[in-house]
Amino acid sequence: MSIADFTLILHPMLAVVFVFPLIGIATALAWQTRQRRLTVESKAKSKIPPVVGSEHLSIGRWLAAGVIGVALLGVSAPIIRKMILNGTFAEEPGRAAFVGLMIVLTAASAVMLYRATPAHWRGIFATLTGMGLIILGCQPEVFRRGYEWYTSHYYFGIVAALLMILSVAVVPDIYKDKQKRWRRAHAALNAIAVLLFIGQGFTGARDLLEIPLSWQNPYVSELYAKQCQTQECVVLPASEVPDSAE
Ligand code: HEM
Ligand code: HEM
Repeated sequence: MSIADFTLILHPMLAVVFVFPLIGIATALAWQTRQRRLTVESKAKSKIPPVVGSEHLSIGRWLAAGVIGVALLGVSAPIIRKMILNGTFAEEPGRAAFVGLMIVLTAASAVMLYRATPAHWRGIFATLTGMGLIILGCQPEVFRRGYEWYTSHYYFGIVAALLMILSVAVVPDIYKDKQKRWRRAHAALNAIAVLLFIGQGFTGARDLLEIPLSWQNPYVSELYAKQCQTQECVVLPASEVPDSAE
C-alpha cells in the first residue's frame, strides 16, 4: 500500500477502532449517570454505583481527545496529500508553512485545554482549538460538500468536534452549577453529538467508497470528469485517451 493510500485509511481506521467504541461506552455511562441522579433526587435507592459519573467523565475525556484527533487528521491528511501532488510547497510556500503551523498550534491548544483549570484559560484554549480546526477546514484542499451540506462529512464532523471541545471546557461548570443548567445543556448538546456521530458513520463510509485508492484514481477521476453519474460513458485513464478523442 502506498503512503498516500495509508494516510487515507488511517483516519477511518482510528474512528472505527478507537472513537466509536468510546462513543458507545460514554453514552451508556451517560444514561446511567442521569438515571442514578434522578433516582437519588427522588429519595429512592439506586442500584447504579456512585462512581458512574466520574467513569463517564474519564471515558468522555478520551472520547473528546479521539474526536478532536481524528477531525484534525481528517482535515490535515488531504491537505498535505494534495499539496504534495499539486506542488503547492513550491508554488505557495507561505500558505504551506501556515498550514503546518496551524496543525501544530491546534494540537497544542487541545493539549493546553486539557491542562487548563481557570475558566478564562479553558475558554481561550477551547476557542483556539475550534478555530484551528475551522481554519484548516477552510483550505481549498478540503472537500466540504457545500452543495449538499446536509450530508456533509466535513460539517457534521466539525460540529461534533466543537461539541466535544465544549464538553471538555465546561466540566468544572457542570459540577459547580447548582441549578444544573450546564448539566442539562451538556446532555442536550451531546444527544445531538450522538446523532452527528451516527451521521459520521454513514457519510464517512460513503466517502470511503467515493475516494479512490491511488491505482484507481486515473479511472475514477475520469468518471467524475465525464459526469458518469448522470449519463452513460466509457472510461479510460486520462493518460490513455488518444489526442484526437480529447
Ligand atoms: C457521547 C457523548 C456524551 C454524551 C451523550 C453525554 C451525556 C451526558 C449525560 C446524559 C449526563 C448526565 C446528565 C444528568 O445528570 O442529567 C452527562 C454528565 C456528565 N458529562 Fe457527559 N456526555 C458525553 C460526553 C462527555 C464528555 C466528552 C465529557 C467531558 C470530557 C463529559 C462530561 C460530563 C460530566 C463531567 C458529567 C457529570 C458527571 C457526574 O455527575 O459526575 N461528557 N453527560
Ligand atoms: C467521530 C467520527 C468522525 C469525525 C469527527 C470525522 C471527521 C472528519 C473530518 C473533519 C474530515 C475532513 C473533511 C472531509 O474530507 O470530509 C474527515 C475526512 C474523512 N473521513 Fe471522517 N470523521 C469521523 C468518522 C469517519 C468514519 C467512521 C469514516 C469511514 C468509515 C470516515 C471517513 C473519512 C474519509 C474517507 C475522509 C477523507 C479523508 C482523506 O481524504 O484523507 N470518517 N473526517
